[in-house]
Amino acid sequence: MLDDLKANNRAWADRMLQRDPQFFKRLEAQQGPHYLWIGCSDSRVPANEIVGLAPGELFVHRNVANLAPPQDANYLSVLQFAVDVIKVRHIIVVGHYGCGGIAAAVDGKRRGLVDHWLHPIREIYDEHQPELMAIADGKKRLDRLCELNVKRQVKNVASDIFVQEAWARGQTLSVHGWVYSLGTGIVNDQDVTVQDPADLKKL
Ligand code: CO
Repeated sequence: MLDDLKANNRAWADRMLQRDPQFFKRLEAQQGPHYLWIGCSDSRVPANEIVGLAPGELFVHRNVANLAPPQDANYLSVLQFAVDVIKVRHIIVVGHYGCGGIAAAVDGKRRGLVDHWLHPIREIYDEHQPELMAIADGKKRLDRLCELNVKRQVKNVASDIFVQEAWARGQTLSVHGWVYSLGTGIVNDQDVTVQDPADLKKL
């Protein structure tokens, strides 16, 4: 079962060891990534690969439509561990154009549980009706919603009590918002970086 994947795995581990015989032994001892990535589960947006980071260099949380819901225990556990224990310096919320989760949130079809998960996106959609309705092209409208969603999730992360407490005790930490283009492979910085509580007020 899955023999091709296991063969790939062995070949990969061999390559890593050829480059650096101590690579896995060192990582086994501890991880010390500087970045937390909050991204979409979409298979076309592989976190480490896009930004050229090796195992041990990126702490990753992924879910449908890269949400940071203030009541989600999974996301909050990742966030607290990243901020309080690993002490990452950057948290990057990464959306992507052409996101199926974003489209599903507003197409009016019922799918079940995921409709609840995607509810925050419908709220963002409703709040930005005039701007979004002014975009005639449906695909471009959804891409704009991807950007608005990233901005909102940056706000969620930066408002979180774990992040606020980290700033209060003088920890260096910034929250960034990017949108990745499936068509070009390039990330677009949305220029919504929050480095302290004053930046958050400007969002
Ligand atoms: Co997506």
